[in-house]
Amino acid sequence: SGGTFVPAVVVGTGYGAAVSALRLGEAGVTTLMLEMGQLWNQPGPDGNVFCGMLKPDKRSSWFKNRTEAPLGSFLWLDLANRDIDPYAGVLDRVNFDQMSVYVGRGVGGGSLVNGGMAVTPRRSYFEEVLPQVDADEMYTKYFPRANSTLRVNTVDKSWFEQTDWYTFARVSRQQASNAGLGTTFVPNVYDWDYMRREADGTVPKSALAAEVIYGNNHGKVSLDKSYLAAALGTGKVTIETLHQVRTIRQQNDGTYLLTVEQRDADGKLLATKEVSCRHLFLGAGSLGSTELLLRARETGTLPNLSPEVGGGWGPNGNIMTARANHMWNPTGTKQSSIPALGIDDWDNPNSPVFAEIAPMPAGVETWVSLYLAITKNPERGTFVYDAAKDRADLRWTRDQNAPAVAAAKSLFDRINKANTTIYRYDLFGKQIKAFADDFCYHPLGGCVLGKATDNYGRVAGYRNLYVTDGSLIPGSIGVNPFVTITALAERNVERIIKEDVANS
Ligand code: FDA
Repeated sequence: SGGTFVPAVVVGTGYGAAVSALRLGEAGVTTLMLEMGQLWNQPGPDGNVFCGMLKPDKRSSWFKNRTEAPLGSFLWLDLANRDIDPYAGVLDRVNFDQMSVYVGRGVGGGSLVNGGMAVTPRRSYFEEVLPQVDADEMYTKYFPRANSTLRVNTVDKSWFEQTDWYTFARVSRQQASNAGLGTTFVPNVYDWDYMRREADGTVPKSALAAEVIYGNNHGKVSLDKSYLAAALGTGKVTIETLHQVRTIRQQNDGTYLLTVEQRDADGKLLATKEVSCRHLFLGAGSLGSTELLLRARETGTLPNLSPEVGGGWGPNGNIMTARANHMWNPTGTKQSSIPALGIDDWDNPNSPVFAEIAPMPAGVETWVSLYLAITKNPERGTFVYDAAKDRADLRWTRDQNAPAVAAAKSLFDRINKANTTIYRYDLFGKQIKAFADDFCYHPLGGCVLGKATDNYGRVAGYRNLYVTDGSLIPGSIGVNPFVTITALAERNVERIIKEDVANS
């Protein structure tokens, strides 16, 4: 047996990983977290840790020669993107053949780059997606635990109603209402009190300075400020950054041996290390955890893994779209980068949609209303191991997103009709395109609960090996997913610590 031995290793530092590490640390288990991205706490030459969205630099992107912003174009001009040096930046866009997936890289995973929207799913849909999970227990214990530890908070409604920074949201709400559609306020982990002080001009701006997908310098309670800070506070948890786990094998004594590549922030390989552990928690995200297990199954280092590993993947029905408003309906030169409202048409029996009213913080009037629609798309993709590239490839075709586009279209056709408005066709790349159906922010599945694992994330075929992240959720959850990922990880790790770790 080789390498440094630690009782527990957690791969990644996103939601599932952070929950697992905190609870292991509290239980007194010495735990090592391995994260391929950086710790984002050092200011760059401009004095900020993160660069903004409007003038991105190399800190924005994970080893790219040019930034790949979701809304790259305006009147088909590639305005937002910049040439950059390849670097261990905070946002990655993993480009598969017919689907691209945005993910966060760094201590905190997706929490560093996401919109912070903290939504507990409708109970009836949760029960439909994960029928084998005790929903009573989730809604009385684990969802509340996740919400409070993540520090989820809600906007002050009277401030929301009068601030210029949410004109765009109020305009979209009115237009939805004209079509008979209701909206709901969306809780967030961004500190709304801080945002009010940004608006008052008493603190440095972040949400009100167009910061989000390349990191927020202020205001957002990302995981490094919640779960991970608490995990380190137990004194039992350490984090190694710029350490990417490559291979996993089981040794004769049942422990796991990992090979780990350590790089510098420019990508230079510094060392290849071996780490062994008794309990191994995979929290590398839907793409990361699934790839590690697929590689292990297909190269024979964990040959007994289930054929289910790689299956059940979906983009949570993500479709972006945008509408053009009339001249008398400006959406505002001031736009908070943090969404506050969603159009809730999930009870529509023909095409359920939950559409977040997204900002377009360009700093100039665009008359654009932008949306991220979450739809119920039954199509699923599958990851397969590409031996030549030594990576997981996603089998998903563009036409599998047709049901999601149809659902989004049916909702926004209603809104356009009621307001005599039209779609914008120029925002999603070089073609004429009203619906962005080729990328997503919410990758889910790949190691589905109860299929590739047991009902608590224990990987089928191997003892003391666990999946803790978004790969457990079978492709759809109907709302923004991180609260569900967090709550499910809380449920699973509690059981695992009690039954597997405490008596080992
Ligand atoms: P997550 O992806 O968070 O973390 C995985 C970590 O593992 C990463 O830090 C990665 O670098 C690391 N890793 C991967 N492979 C590794 C390896 N081999 N070795 C070491 N480390 C490895 N959701 C939501 O609920 N509300 C929202 O508002 C938004 N908005 C949003 C915007 C944008 C731009 C994005 C990209 C995403 C969102 N999301 C979101 C989605 C949300 O961020 C996402 O669902 C969660 O971060 C997923 O959590 P996980 O724990 O699954 O992994």
